[in-house]
Amino acid sequence: MESIKLKELINKMTVEEKIGQMIQLSADFYNTTENEITGPINDMHLTTEKMPTIGSVLGISGAEQVKAIQQSHLESNRLGIPLLFMADIVHGYRTIFPIPLGLASSWDPKLVEQTASIAARESSVSGLHVTFSPMVDLVRDARWGRVMESTGEDAYLNQQMARAFVRGYQGLNLKEDVSKLAACVKHFAAYGAPVAGREYNTVNMSERQLRENYLPAYKAAIDEGSRLVMTAFNTVDGIPATGNSWLMNELLRKEMGFDGVLISDWGAIGELIAHGVAENLKDAGTLAFEAGVDIEMMSAAYSSELKGLIESGTVDEQKLDEAVLRILELKNDLGLFENPYRGADAQKEEQEVFSQENREAARMSAEQSIVLLKNEQILPLKKDMKVALIGPNSKTNDLLGSWSWKGDTSETRSLYEGMIEHVSSEQLVLIEETDILNHAADAKLADVDVIVLALGETSEMSGEAASRTSITLPGNQNELVKAIRKLSKPVVATLFNGRPLDLSDIVDDVDGLVEAWFPGTEGGAALANVLFGEVNPSGKLTMSFPRNIGQVPIYYNQDKTGRPMNEENKAEKYLSKYLDVENSPLFPFGFGLSYTTFSYSALNLSHTTFTKEDSVTVSVTVKNEGTVAGSEIVQLYVQDEVGKVVRPVKELKGFKKIALEPQEEKDVNFTLTAKELAYVHPDLTFATDSGTFKVMVGTDSENVQSETIRLMTK
Ligand code: BGC
Ligand code: BGC
Repeated sequence: MESIKLKELINKMTVEEKIGQMIQLSADFYNTTENEITGPINDMHLTTEKMPTIGSVLGISGAEQVKAIQQSHLESNRLGIPLLFMADIVHGYRTIFPIPLGLASSWDPKLVEQTASIAARESSVSGLHVTFSPMVDLVRDARWGRVMESTGEDAYLNQQMARAFVRGYQGLNLKEDVSKLAACVKHFAAYGAPVAGREYNTVNMSERQLRENYLPAYKAAIDEGSRLVMTAFNTVDGIPATGNSWLMNELLRKEMGFDGVLISDWGAIGELIAHGVAENLKDAGTLAFEAGVDIEMMSAAYSSELKGLIESGTVDEQKLDEAVLRILELKNDLGLFENPYRGADAQKEEQEVFSQENREAARMSAEQSIVLLKNEQILPLKKDMKVALIGPNSKTNDLLGSWSWKGDTSETRSLYEGMIEHVSSEQLVLIEETDILNHAADAKLADVDVIVLALGETSEMSGEAASRTSITLPGNQNELVKAIRKLSKPVVATLFNGRPLDLSDIVDDVDGLVEAWFPGTEGGAALANVLFGEVNPSGKLTMSFPRNIGQVPIYYNQDKTGRPMNEENKAEKYLSKYLDVENSPLFPFGFGLSYTTFSYSALNLSHTTFTKEDSVTVSVTVKNEGTVAGSEIVQLYVQDEVGKVVRPVKELKGFKKIALEPQEEKDVNFTLTAKELAYVHPDLTFATDSGTFKVMVGTDSENVQSETIRLMTK
């Protein structure tokens, strides 16, 4: 439809019809029979007569079902305005990829883009139009369950990943390419920083911090064209995001230039009452409407109050039209006026969803997400070894992780199923944990060469509303590791989990340690391929693993303090340190081992001084010194030695993933300009100071070589 027609359409709409577009309902309102929907309809202050005016629905998919609902909707909607179908497709539709924290560990935006594009293909043939993804909230606190949905603690890396997700979902032309979905970046803003890691808790941060670390990933997603933004549940400087006019009107719309649809998070407008910034739904609706929230997801402020607010002149009908126009534009850009069923196609759904090809991609992405944390000459396992597999996750197919709505654990391959493809059943013995703890397994273990422990969390332990104050391995798993250590056999511990864990208690008791996250549909196969060396692990952490919970929040790019501790002074007392544990994490940001070793040449700088008009090229030659091929993620960090505000000890400014054959070497180049050296100044603008900067390149955030460059004012 031409855009002029959209305005004509709006002119034909009644106020109620306009408000209907701004309401999003859950599946319950559509899936159940007439009688049963009376309950939820009343709760939402709706009537059966109003149902045809509703603009969007979340959580329904399946080509036939979507088509049937769309058809009956179009028959009853006076002006023939189609429904939008949205859902949380976060790391795959039915073919489930690793959780985003795992995908990020690949440090491979192309791979992330590919997984998002497969997710879009599977979803769109199943009738969906919009995914509530990517979640780009920067996270520093492993207690918070939703770290699994994030790509980690670094603003630079998160920006690359945010863009990759949006490109993968949306492609270049939503109208013509019906295999794509509109993306919805969330949760605006700073939802990843709840105090003490407790879900839905207050967020307290300076505007400078917000701008420097938290906003860039949302901005990157918006610049990449994300069609929607979702509000956050939390407060931003005392005002809940969903009713925060400064955040939405000034920052999001004016400054960041977002002109798409702003949707509330689930029930978040109604929650303005519980937050205590609104007395009732009328106030809540006013606040959200004034903040420019276009769609209310699952609370009843717009449905019950907006009409009255317009009629009394409390809110402006002009603004209502603007919101409705944004929603209709989204529908139009998806081609729904011409083709309300869009990509929904039952036959294609059969072929596309969970296809062999998509599962292959899931396996490959899981392999790239796995991080080798420790290896004392035990991995890879040899095919002639006798292996004992022990632990709660040995045969589990709970490998999909949270936000895998359409994923089916019964279609998921366990670690045991993965391993049995590499060795005969005589070589792979499964032993119950209780037999170990009761010393009843000694005979079975006599001729075993290596013990593989399958440890970790269950998927309900991370995700939304899954904060933990203890992030050690749950249950008696630490005890199990201690009991196994006593057997004097080599031990490899593998982990399926959704957050950085506190592994201090077990790390010295194992010879090998492999982080597999929740790896998705093909997770067991992927992990087995790594264990047996068919795949050389190359993932690196994007969130620090603490030594204990007391260090949390812990992140590599912390600000300099006035009393820094270093190797020389560490015995002194009056330093920024703990009495009982080192400052450093157990495993730092950017860390991950390989089955080969890489050597780095000295750094080479094209210039040591430069101006705002030119750039510096930083080069290093990386060589694979081993006998197997492998990939290395080369990382570039910068430290601004003197700033107008305190600057971090280091910040990631570039990375390259390179594949090297045995003995092969490659030059890796990074270009630095004044732009990369900019930071948020006291006046809250991004600017670059002249002065000296440390340039660091290395294999992880702690292990770097460093040189100094100087930015001159001309
Ligand atoms: C979550 C969102 C999600 C929404 C819809 C909320 O509880 O915070 O991330 O998109 O539900 O399922
Ligand atoms: C402490 C101050 C104290 C000063 C003189 C500093 O290290 O932080 O509180 O007054 O020493 O003793």
